[in-house]
Amino acid sequence: MKMKEKMEQLAGTMKRWQKLENAAIAQTARIMEESEHPLIRAIMEIIKNDSENHYRIQQLIIDSVEKEYINVFTDDMEKCWSSIEKHIALEKKTIEMAAESLAALEGSKNVVQLYLLDYLRMDEEKHDKMLSDLGRIQKAMYP
Ligand SMILES: [Fe+2]
Ligand SMILES: [Fe+2]
Repeated sequence: MKMKEKMEQLAGTMKRWQKLENAAIAQTARIMEESEHPLIRAIMEIIKNDSENHYRIQQLIIDSVEKEYINVFTDDMEKCWSSIEKHIALEKKTIEMAAESLAALEGSKNVVQLYLLDYLRMDEEKHDKMLSDLGRIQKAMYP
């Protein structure tokens, strides 16, 4: 398959995926109507917000196929990189906080607290990874 066809296929897959995200958003909203419990509602709210973000990212991928400028950074990284470095340090601290909190729960059978802290730890690790991967883009742009 030629690269152009592969790119069209990629964009097509993203459009189908976006339909699933829309279904997920509707589904989480429905579940929230069925429950008053703050934990269930919070989880559904997170998945709903994530699905909205996923939709946006899928759109960025579609745009990167259709509009070349998405793939180009001129001085965009340079302008904010020192702030991003500060943010990387902040994220590292939050991972320490998660480890500290989970250590405090050692031996605990509070499954709700463990579940929530595990979620936070995963999310903070995700932020950390996203920023270090962004650093890799930055290095590729300005070797
Ligand atoms: Fe998703
Ligand atoms: Fe974070």
